[in-house]
Amino acid sequence: MAKTRSGLSKTSYAPATATAAAVTAAQPLPDTQMAATVAAAQSANAQTFADTDNAPHHDLYAGRQYYQSQTFDIDTRMALQDYLHDQAVSGSLYAPSQILNYAMRNGQTLTANQQFMVDSMKAGMHNLGYNVNLYRYARVDFMQGLGAGNYENMSIAQLQKVLVGKGFVDKAFVSTSYNDFKTAPPGNAFTDKAVKIIYKAPAKTQALMPGNGPGGALGEIVLAPGQHYVITDVKFPGGTGRSGGSTYKRVELTVEVR
Ligand SMILES: NC(=O)c1ccc[n+]([C@@H]2O[C@H](COP(=O)([O-])OP(=O)(O)OC[C@H]3O[C@@H](n4cnc5c(N)ncnc54)[C@H](O)[C@@H]3O)[C@@H](O)[C@H]2O)c1
Repeated sequence: MAKTRSGLSKTSYAPATATAAAVTAAQPLPDTQMAATVAAAQSANAQTFADTDNAPHHDLYAGRQYYQSQTFDIDTRMALQDYLHDQAVSGSLYAPSQILNYAMRNGQTLTANQQFMVDSMKAGMHNLGYNVNLYRYARVDFMQGLGAGNYENMSIAQLQKVLVGKGFVDKAFVSTSYNDFKTAPPGNAFTDKAVKIIYKAPAKTQALMPGNGPGGALGEIVLAPGQHYVITDVKFPGGTGRSGGSTYKRVELTVEVR
C-alpha cells in the first residue's frame, strides 16, 4: 500500500492479508485489520506507516482513520483489551495497565498475563508514521524519577538547569493523547494532573493506537517501552494540578522522542 500523508481514509484501506481481503465495501469495516500472524501484521504496518515525515510536528487529525489503518493479530488485539481496561483491579487502586507499567518501570517480575500483554503489544508496535505532538498527564512521581521531586521549591531557572538536555529511557508503555484529550469526556481523570508532558514524536517512533473504545475517546497513542527521550523545555504554566489525593504546582515539560 502506498505511504500517504493525507489518505488515511476508508478509500485507502488496503487489505494486506487473506483475512482482510475478505472485507468488501458492502460489509462494515473492522476497527482494525486482522492478520493471521505477527509477521503479516508487522509487514502490513511497515507498508502503511512511514519512518520519515518531512512536515513539522503537528497534531494528528483523522485519528479514527489512523486507527482503522493498523493491522494487528489476535494476540495484540486481546492484549490491548486488557491494557484499556480502566477499572481498578480488585484490592488495588490501579488499573491493569498502571500496575503493568509500574512493574516495568521498577524492574518487578511480571506475571504470565502481564508478560503476554508486553509481548503482544510490542508485536503490534509500528512507525508512528508522522511527526506528531502527543500529550500526557502524569503524577509527580514522574518528576521524582527525573531527579526533580523537589520541583515545587525550585525557581524555573534552577529547574531548567536540572532538566533541560537531560535524557532518559522509559522502560514502560507510555500512554498519550494525540489531541490533548479534546474528545475525552468532561471530568476525565487525566487533564487535571500536576505534570503535563508534550512529546515531540518523530515518524519513526514506535507506537500504536490501542482502540476506539476508551482509547479512542482519549485519542490514545501508546509508545513502545525502551525508547529514548530528551527534555528540551520545562515551564511553570501557572496554577495547580492533582497527584493522587494531593495538590501540587503545575509543571509542563517538552520532551523529544529520539
Ligand atoms: N496519562 C495519560 O495522559 C494517558 C493518556 C491516554 C490514556 N491513558 C490511560 O491511562 C492508563 C495508563 O495510566 P497512566 O498513564 O495514568 O499511568 P502509567 O500507567 O504510566 O503509570 C502508572 C501510575 O500508576 C501508579 N502506580 C501503579 N501501580 C502502583 C503501585 N503499586 N504503587 C504506587 N503507584 C502505582 C504510578 O504512581 C504511576 O503514576 C491506560 O489505561 C491508558 O488507557 C493515560
